[in-house]
Amino acid sequence: MAKNLLTKESKYEIGEFWTSKQRQSHTLHYCISYRAAFKPELPQYFINRFLKKKKRTILDPFGGRGTTTIQANLDGHFGIHNDINPLSIFLAESRRVVPSYEKMEKIINGLDLHKKKSDEIQDNDLHHFYHPKTLQEIKNLKEIYKEDKSPELTYIMLTALSRLHGHSDGFFSVYTFPQISIPAISQKRNNEKRNQTPQYKAIKERILKKMRNDLSDPLPPFYHEFSKKNKYTQSFSYNMKEVPTDSVDLIVTSPPFLDKVDYINDNWLKAWFLDIDLKFLTGVSIIQNPSDWKEFIQNTLRECHRVMKKNSFLVMEVGDVLYKKELLNLDDLVIESAEKSSLYWVKTIINSQKFTKLSNCWNISNNEKGTNSNRCVVLSR
Ligand SMILES: C[S@@+](CC[C@H](N)C(=O)[O-])C[C@H]1O[C@@H](n2cnc3c(N)ncnc32)[C@H](O)[C@@H]1O
Repeated sequence: MAKNLLTKESKYEIGEFWTSKQRQSHTLHYCISYRAAFKPELPQYFINRFLKKKKRTILDPFGGRGTTTIQANLDGHFGIHNDINPLSIFLAESRRVVPSYEKMEKIINGLDLHKKKSDEIQDNDLHHFYHPKTLQEIKNLKEIYKEDKSPELTYIMLTALSRLHGHSDGFFSVYTFPQISIPAISQKRNNEKRNQTPQYKAIKERILKKMRNDLSDPLPPFYHEFSKKNKYTQSFSYNMKEVPTDSVDLIVTSPPFLDKVDYINDNWLKAWFLDIDLKFLTGVSIIQNPSDWKEFIQNTLRECHRVMKKNSFLVMEVGDVLYKKELLNLDDLVIESAEKSSLYWVKTIINSQKFTKLSNCWNISNNEKGTNSNRCVVLSR
């Protein structure tokens, strides 16, 4: 396509290019929920549209729960998953190898989760969420994982992580929020208000049930041929030093929006469970004004330009954001940022579909009048 010869209007494609019916894509994607994750149909659509050959390399600089990389592997490509959040690296890398359900069932059934660990049960914060016996099982699983980082135990930890807190009987906790971990003191108040105390929830059976569900779709036989060669890098999007120059065939990504996400406090329970320290994330990408956001995206696009092969594509999905009570189209800001990054704007694809479920997190208000739109800016080098 000739660069920049089209009029601005003709560069917009609007339609229902993919539908995201509940649970339509591969069940492996649904092991874990993650704030602001995109639907797997989005990377799948662009992989099919822009990659004519298999065995290509697909990067997501803001990998999140790993949607792009998993979809790349399911479609016969290699993935590079980058994210600054160590939790995100765990979520994605724990599916590099997906062991069989039968093997993990045997391992879980053989685990001794009732060994009492010395001081562990005296935990003031956690008992607002868990019955002492449940907490003991969780802590014992944590201890076992410290000494056994096999793919099986890692996948079991991923599943347990997804069951840590939520509002149904399938979770280990008393009724609480599923997506973010609220402070223990708020949970204490919730318990009083709801007149509830944590009941014993045996963790093994809950892990097994969830695992059966997540592994119910068979993996394509080639999945591990690709996933085993994935790269997982924990770098800033504007300095992905472990990603070689001219090495990437396609980027599909969604950056943090102008957000107020508190990566540390929202994830404290998950971080405790995995023994990871999120403190260094203080201030990461909590960008609250458009000009700083534009500079952040510009630096990221410059770095993407470095790692992309010539003529390859980059797709950046953004939403509309309310900023000072006005609707801001972030796709416009991405296009402006691209001008200074040497990438050129090919088109903007707006996928508009009737929504089935209202969501309004991250200040995104793209669910008006019964439609849900993803605005995807396509750039090329
Ligand atoms: C919108 S989410 C991406 C969700 C992803 N598409 C998915 O499906 O899970 C944005 C991600 O960017 C990460 N992030 C924020 N600032 C970053 C930075 N400067 N460099 C790399 N990653 C960053 C966050 O940790 C978060 O996982």
